[in-house]
Order: sequence, then C-alpha cells, then structure tokens
Amino acid sequence: MPTGNVASVSDESSLTLPAERSSLRPMNTEIRDLATLVGQTVTLRGWVHKLRSSGKIAFLVVRDGTGMVQVVCARNDLDDAAWAAVGELDYEASLEVEGEVKQDERSPGGVELLAGDVRLVGASSDYPIQPKEHGIDFLLNHRHLWLRHGRQRAILRVRDEIIHAIREFFYERDFTLIDTPILTGSIGESAGTLFETEYFDLGTAYLAQTGQLYLEPAAAALGKVYCFGPTFRAEKSKTRRHLTEFWMVEPEVAWLDSDGNMALQEEFVCAIVSRVLDRRRAELVELDRDITRLEAIVPPFDRMSYSDAIEILHERGSDITWGADLGAEDETLLTEGREKPLFVFDYPREAKAFYMKENAADPRTVKCNDMLAPEGYGEIIGGSQREDDHDKLLKRIREEGLPEESYDWYLDVRRYGTFPHSGFGLGLERTVSWICGLDHLREAIPYPRMMNRLSP
Ligand code: 4AD
Ligand code: MG
Repeated sequence: MPTGNVASVSDESSLTLPAERSSLRPMNTEIRDLATLVGQTVTLRGWVHKLRSSGKIAFLVVRDGTGMVQVVCARNDLDDAAWAAVGELDYEASLEVEGEVKQDERSPGGVELLAGDVRLVGASSDYPIQPKEHGIDFLLNHRHLWLRHGRQRAILRVRDEIIHAIREFFYERDFTLIDTPILTGSIGESAGTLFETEYFDLGTAYLAQTGQLYLEPAAAALGKVYCFGPTFRAEKSKTRRHLTEFWMVEPEVAWLDSDGNMALQEEFVCAIVSRVLDRRRAELVELDRDITRLEAIVPPFDRMSYSDAIEILHERGSDITWGADLGAEDETLLTEGREKPLFVFDYPREAKAFYMKENAADPRTVKCNDMLAPEGYGEIIGGSQREDDHDKLLKRIREEGLPEESYDWYLDVRRYGTFPHSGFGLGLERTVSWICGLDHLREAIPYPRMMNRLSP
C-alpha cells in the first residue's frame, strides 16, 4: 500500500505552466517541470520515496509533491561526500540533488536525473510505514506520515478539486459566501448530537451542526447565499459514513421551492463530478476508480416520494415502517441497480428537522429531499424548503422541546417579510468518498475526527 512501484514525473497532474506560477518560485526545480528541461542541470529537493543500491550505483525515486522521478547516483559521478550522503539515505529522508535531466523512454515520465551532487538534508531511519500491508489503526495513528503516500495524495487532490468546483459553482451563479459561526447558541439540527462547551457567563455554547439557521436571514439580505465550513456532530455511531467533524457546503436561496431546490442540487453535483473528471483523471486512475461510473452522472436524476420509496423497500424485503427515516441499508436497497443519484422527497415530519416546511398536500410530510448516491454511498445531500409561516414554525420548535428563547432571532425572518426559501447541505467527505470510491469517510479528510479518534 504505501509505496508505489512507478517512478514518474507525471503521476500528478500539472495544471499550470511554469511561467504562470512565477511568483512562487522555491529554490529548487519542481519535478513536474523536468520533462521540459532535458539536457539541463537542475537542483531538486524532496524526499526518498524508494531506493535500491548495488555496489557502485544507487537508484532513488524522489518525490517533491509535484511528481516523482528516478535519480541515478553513480559512484563515478559523485565525490566522496556526495557518495557518503547516498549511503545515509533511507525511506523518507529529505535531500537535495543536483544533476542532469536525461531523456529515458522506459521511465513513465520520460526523464530521469543523473546525479552530480547529493546532499542529505534530513535523515530518516526506521520510517514507520513500510512497503507492506499495515492495519488501518496503525495507518490512522500515523496519519501525519500516511499523507505522503500515493493513494492519500490522490484523495487530497481530488478533495481540493471538489472544493474548487463548489466555490466556482456558486461564484459563477452570483451566490454570496456567508461565513456562519462555529460557536452557536441555538441548536441547528437536533439535540441528540451536540458538542457543548461552557461559554463565559452566557451558559452553554454548541459547536455548529449546520450553518443553515444563520444563512436564512442572509438570504433575505442577498437572495442567494452559501456557507462552507466544518460542522460538528457528536455521533456515537462508528459507521463508515459518520465523522464527528465534517465539512458541509450549504446554499440557501430566496424564492426557491422544493422542486427548484432539487434541480439546483442536480446541476451542482453534475458540475462537481464533471470538473473532477476533467482535471483529476490521473488521481482517479491512481485510486482505481471505475471512471465510467462517474461519466454516467449527468442530468436528470430520478425523483421518488418517500411513500413510494417505502413501498419499494417493502417489495425488496425491508420491514421499515412509514414514518421512520431511511437507514443506510434502506438507502442501499433503493439505489441498487441505479447508475445515477436518486432523490427521495417529502419525508414524514417526525423523521426530519423542525425547520422544514409542512407539505400542504399531505401535512404528515414536509417539503424536503435527500440525494442518495449510487454504489451504496447513500445520502450525500439533505435539503428542504423552509417553514416560512411564523406560527407553524413556533409550533414545531415547541413540539421538539427546543428552547424557544434561543430561536427568537430566527423567527424574526418570519416576522419581517417572510418569503419562500430553500436550501441544502452537501457533505464534503461523503462526496469525496463516493467520487474516489473509498470504503470509509476516514480517508476523505486529512485528519479524521471520530468517536474514538482525536489524534493526530
Ligand atoms: O442532512 P443534514 O443533517 O442536513 C443539514 O444539516 C441541513 N441543515 C442542510 C441544509 O439544508 N442546509 O446534513 C447534510 C449532509 C448529509 O447529507 C451528509 O452528506 C452530511 O451532511 N453529513 C455528514 N457527513 C459526515 N459525517 C456526519 N456525521 C454527517 N452528518 C451529515
Ligand atoms: Mg440528512
């Protein structure tokens, strides 16, 4: 798992030309540029990814974050100090190499470096992650080092691309970014999964479960808004779909109803997948992702009411009762055989959060939807039209036993010029997991936080 076998200058995509990156020039040449520098003498700095030596010659694979390249260190080309430095190298030592860039057809990047000088910068001995199978706990305990390895680097790059896709999508559509607070006085989703902390003389503060409540007032100010940041849920479940700290992007749109909300979600998810396919194909290949599954993600996505979903689940052997929220197994059953995400809409009121708008056609239900990803990934989006009737909303707050006084400001949105509005939340790590084809959310975030993990 940890070390790949291939020395390549192109294993990580190069999206910009060197000249366009000119304001940030580190002292060294970047490996991704080597193919354009054949015949020249350059200085590389990086880490030893692999090494193999036989008497008078050593072959290193050096990684610098922009790519990897094979470095050939021949005794005859090096002075005594440089050859001694080669002898001291071990996995993940950092080094500086000066050498000539040579064309080499056999190497995947088309070039290798013939070392003329080698300097050890930082020694490394007994590097914990070795080229063999390690257990997941061991790897997570060494997450700070595990990040250096191929799959993890590919995932981090896809995650970064998805974040860019998200910001670009909203920027291009005139949404305004609203940074919502992480310390809050009002419970955002449900009382069951709160992280609490003492807050001076003001009682208890909660870590935000969502930014939504703070976005709704901003939608009255700016029309189309979104927030994007870490959210927190004291999930006591150890499932592959739950983190206690995860990133969520939440748009909120004035004058949008539940149908329009689903249309926005569909366009959004397609834009994300398409950008990753355009720009991170090499990473998807590195992750062995079946790319055809992602190429199938184009509009439209099917929409199914909750009540229809329950019937189908019964046909497929589930004993779920009308009124319950769908569990992971139900979601998998529903998406079986489907290529694209599926919308399930109009859930029972009791299965969902207090702020969702009552469905006039069937007041047992609310105007909401989840988006279920294919291949068993389940819910990646939860969204709804918001209750815009002051009295109905207040009634729901009371029914849920939520502290009414902390929602006074939220109710103001219904007191002063109430308006239909909708929004949704997409879980970043669930989306990264699905797009990368991971089997657990813990690899979709640099430093996962779970019930049993707070370190590193
Ligand atoms: O369905 P949720 O709870 O919806 C909300 O929080 C709404 N306030 C969003 C809105 O309408 N503005 O969460 C939204 C998404 C889920 O679909 C899932 O992708 C992700 O957030 N999510 C989690 N991801 C990782 N770990 C957890 N514990 C998660 N809980 C929710
Ligand atoms: Mg949900």
